[in-house]
Amino acid sequence: MGLAALSAFRGDVILAQSAAEAGIVSVMSGASLIPMETVANAAPRTWFQAYLPVDSARVDRYLARVEEAGFRVLVLTVDMPVAASPENMRRGGFSAPLEWSPTLIADGMTHPRWLLGTLLRTLAAQGMPCFENSFAEPRCSPEGNDQVFPRIPLVSRKTRLRFAARDALTWRDVHHVRSRWSGPLVVKGILGPQDAVLAREGGADAIVLSNHGGRRLDSAVSALRQLETVVDALDGFPVLIDGGFRRGTDVLKALCLGARMVLVGRPFNYALATAGACGVRHAIDLLATEVDRDLALLGVGSCTGLTRERIVRRFTCGSGGMTS
Ligand SMILES: Cc1cc2nc3c(=O)[nH]c(=O)nc-3n(C[C@H](O)[C@H](O)[C@H](O)COP(=O)(O)O)c2cc1C
Repeated sequence: MGLAALSAFRGDVILAQSAAEAGIVSVMSGASLIPMETVANAAPRTWFQAYLPVDSARVDRYLARVEEAGFRVLVLTVDMPVAASPENMRRGGFSAPLEWSPTLIADGMTHPRWLLGTLLRTLAAQGMPCFENSFAEPRCSPEGNDQVFPRIPLVSRKTRLRFAARDALTWRDVHHVRSRWSGPLVVKGILGPQDAVLAREGGADAIVLSNHGGRRLDSAVSALRQLETVVDALDGFPVLIDGGFRRGTDVLKALCLGARMVLVGRPFNYALATAGACGVRHAIDLLATEVDRDLALLGVGSCTGLTRERIVRRFTCGSGGMTS
């Protein structure tokens, strides 16, 4: 998740270190406010998630930076070709970068713990936070002083993050990334079997089935609903999944249906915002304990014993429609 350093002081580092201590994977966002090098140093086994720059010369430089930082696994998010409808974000006073407004200032003033413990502490330590790892165009970053890796400030009226305008990218670009990235490549944001097959043909080593937390395309199908179909289409190829996994039983259901790994976003972000490192450790512990307990209650010794037969379906879809 991007912007984790807004949830807590050095949030990305806390998330990555807490995951490393617990022996689980964490994925650092390319839309984070902490330089990737800092996170890679603090938790060397962290994976890096990238939004691809549009032109290939920049892609190469960007990938070189990620590799030099020490990341081994690259997660390429492909479900943000253009910006999502911004109406709910606008309603909440959110934009990327943020813009000074009475609502934003009032929000800060009415959350003194966050204001002091996160924002002012960050400002004192490093000045205005920037999108340190986005590959934005130099003209978007008049404040940036580095033409190769320009930085976009967190609060700015003049600049816009260019997560959008990626609609020119195609599967050829995934092939290109594959040719330049020597480590494992994971493509995130797949929702259907055809795209899953294209990702595999593009050289991915795994995919993440995801609808971006339901925050992009309204009415998009949930990743879990698509899981079986995609797993069947890929014949043993690793399928990871995220979106709405909150309880141990949620995780087990996905594993039964063929997911190799379940990724969890918002719960750890909320834990981070609530109680920093302590909160993240607690959230990991809660979920790990639930998974263990639920396995025992199922009478299964380890996750490898989870198979489709353990799922009892309430409904099946036949050619004549849905029957109970
Ligand atoms: C605040 C926030 C920021 C996110 N930023 C990113 C991002 O930078 N890159 C990305 O691939 N996905 C991003 N996502 C999507 C998550 O990685 C994940 O797909 C989604 O939240 C579903 O998991 P969850 O239901 O456990 O939160 C973000 C989600 C949230 C809520």
